[in-house]
Amino acid sequence: MNILLIGSGGREHALAWKMAASPLVDVVHCAPGNPGMHEIGPCFDVAADDVAGLVKLALQIEPDLVVIGPEAPLALGLADILRARGFDVFGPSKAAAQLEASKAFSKGRMKRYGVPTAAYGEFTEAGLAKAFLRMMTAPYVLKADGLAAGKGVVIAGTLEQADAEIDEMLSGKFGDASATLVIEEFMYGEEASVFVITDGEGAVYLPAAQDHKRVGDGDTGPNTGGMGAYAPAPVVTDEVMARIKREISGPMLRGMAKDGMPYQGVLYIGVMVTPEGPKVVEFNARFGDPECQVLMAGLAGDIVPAILASATGGLKGNEAAFESLLELDGFRPTASVVLASSGYPGSYARGSLIQSVAAANNLPGVTVFHAGTDVDPAGALVAAGGRVLNVTASGDSLREAVDRAYAGVDAIDWPEGFCRRDIGWRALS
Ligand code: AMP
Ligand code: GLY
Repeated sequence: MNILLIGSGGREHALAWKMAASPLVDVVHCAPGNPGMHEIGPCFDVAADDVAGLVKLALQIEPDLVVIGPEAPLALGLADILRARGFDVFGPSKAAAQLEASKAFSKGRMKRYGVPTAAYGEFTEAGLAKAFLRMMTAPYVLKADGLAAGKGVVIAGTLEQADAEIDEMLSGKFGDASATLVIEEFMYGEEASVFVITDGEGAVYLPAAQDHKRVGDGDTGPNTGGMGAYAPAPVVTDEVMARIKREISGPMLRGMAKDGMPYQGVLYIGVMVTPEGPKVVEFNARFGDPECQVLMAGLAGDIVPAILASATGGLKGNEAAFESLLELDGFRPTASVVLASSGYPGSYARGSLIQSVAAANNLPGVTVFHAGTDVDPAGALVAAGGRVLNVTASGDSLREAVDRAYAGVDAIDWPEGFCRRDIGWRALS
């Protein structure tokens, strides 16, 4: 089988690596790919949000399956256009991808289907937003409705800060993405990421993971795209997972199907495990990054049958068979440490030389995924983004996985990079 994989981050490198290991797969074509993916399959220089270019590429390559990694092409309707052309696609329709692309849509669906989440209001007008704020207690959670590259959520400590943020967002801080604002109740608890592979009816669950969103050790400093992850996350006990299935994903998937927007692909449930039980922080229409790296590295079995079934149907009633192909029982504790450019998530320089990635890859249990790398004209590997490498390792225990990942980090020679030194601390403490 030939696959076309869309995207160029660490998430897509991990997906390419895992899918290429499947006996079902002959070639993984990537668009646009990155230097790591280049070693796995042919890469085509078409951007992940160039819908017309990607459709043209698919018509050329004629893949048996298209796997869409990031949210941007999903929000633009790439999956619908490819399906209309007869391709099998892993990734939700434009309508279903609104669960990520519009927070107001997502909150509205949760309300309609009775799914536990923070109480909220939705506003386009500053006066009403500020009046609503005064019925809430601090801290105040303000969210731009649309996609804002992970920056659209502000947690304000005081009414003054929240008022100022409302004015900024509604006057175009994030362009159209903040023309509508969601104001939410603050939820207390521990967060986790749960991933459901679904064809709209059947659902296969991967082991729960935990991201580390803040830039600094001990969860301090500004939010990032994610500085590291591990799985399984013990905060999602069997009981919590059972409640997530019964109270969150079950009603969401049934509701979306009934309302004519069946969800096909992977649904990322950002969960807050509160004293009252699991509640939804957000939905995403794709795998998490770096959670995906951890899941792909830790899975003993084959991911391709479940991904293919999500695209073509037939999951319902056959979940146990797909779970056994994934070998979920054999999932290895895994951690991934993000090496980022100094300055990230603020401004950072590009072009610094990265050496000894191969030495890290040769260490026991270690796989280094590329996220923001490039190859310079002389053929050397250089940094080309904020999050640059994902040093990922599995072990017999999470302790061993984390130690191995940091051994990998220490083997890499990149003076301009930095990482958090405490990935996995919640599970290890
Ligand atoms: P989101 O992009 O919606 O995941 O929000 C980014 C981060 O803000 C989340 O990962 C949480 O850490 C935090 N957050 C978002 N909504 C809430 C909430 N209602 N209560 C507490 N923390 C939240
Ligand atoms: N790791 C968080 C995200 O992918 O949104």
